[in-house]
Amino acid sequence: MFGLKTALKTLLAGALLLATVSAQDSTSTLPNVGVTAEFPNAIAGLTPDLISGESNSVKVTFRNTGKTDLKVNLIVGTVQEIADFGNVIRNLTAYRYGTTLKADATLILPYTIKMEHASREVGLTLMADVIDSSKNHFSVVVYNSTINFTEPMQSWIDPQLIFLYVLITGIFVAIGMFVKDSMAPETKKSTKKAPSMTPEEREAALEKMKTLDEDWIPEHHKKSPRVVKRRS
Ligand SMILES: *[C@@H]1O[C@H](CO)[C@@H](O)[C@H](O)[C@H]1NC(C)=O
Ligand SMILES: *[C@@H]1O[C@H](CO)[C@@H](O)[C@H](O)[C@H]1NC(C)=O
Ligand SMILES: *[C@@H]1O[C@H](CO)[C@@H](O)[C@H](O)[C@H]1NC(C)=O
Repeated sequence: MFGLKTALKTLLAGALLLATVSAQDSTSTLPNVGVTAEFPNAIAGLTPDLISGESNSVKVTFRNTGKTDLKVNLIVGTVQEIADFGNVIRNLTAYRYGTTLKADATLILPYTIKMEHASREVGLTLMADVIDSSKNHFSVVVYNSTINFTEPMQSWIDPQLIFLYVLITGIFVAIGMFVKDSMAPETKKSTKKAPSMTPEEREAALEKMKTLDEDWIPEHHKKSPRVVKRRS
């Protein structure tokens, strides 16, 4: 349900952007806005990578060097084949901001990229829809470059792995208890098999009982039961 909602939102935003871009007034001049994108999670000095399946945050900085206020409406993104940037692999989630970018000021907005992809180079394009004071829409390039998708780091102390270890240990303990439980009746059964013990064993057992019980068994009862049992 949530996934569908997000997908619909993305489609709607994409359609909106397409509409706004095509409605762009060709006579209006591009606003004086500079945009930079940074990947705060990237290792400094290295080309940023996108971690497959994880939330990759992008810090987008807008700098308005003009004399009028602007509005950052939304940021949309696409991931495409490096050989052909027109070959879109995925439309990324569009984020709507509607935030004012004041004249001669800087605005920092977060953008998040989360998608699963095999480890390889892809093209990443992020575009911002900027609106000027005359309500003209401008499509401003936020990021347009080749980037690598990489697999998330596998660590032995990964919380998910720890959960897995606990789960597996639990299963083995459960199996162990089950086996023990199903073995237990076996031992009980073997004690119940006592009636089939050899006459010698029976006599030994009875002899033991005799020595234990003799003291309180009335004298005249002592011998007769033993004789009957011995012959059975
Ligand atoms: C991306 O969005 C555009 C326009 O909204 C659509 O035409 C295209 O099919 C979408 N591409 C993918 C891979 O979803
Ligand atoms: C992004 O870069 C690709 C390859 O360099 C280029 O073909 C494409 O036109 C660029 N897109 C934008 C919006 O600048
Ligand atoms: C992607 O990774 C490959 C292999 O590690 C490397 O050669 C290439 O320069 C990387 N590309 C980018 C854009 O970081």
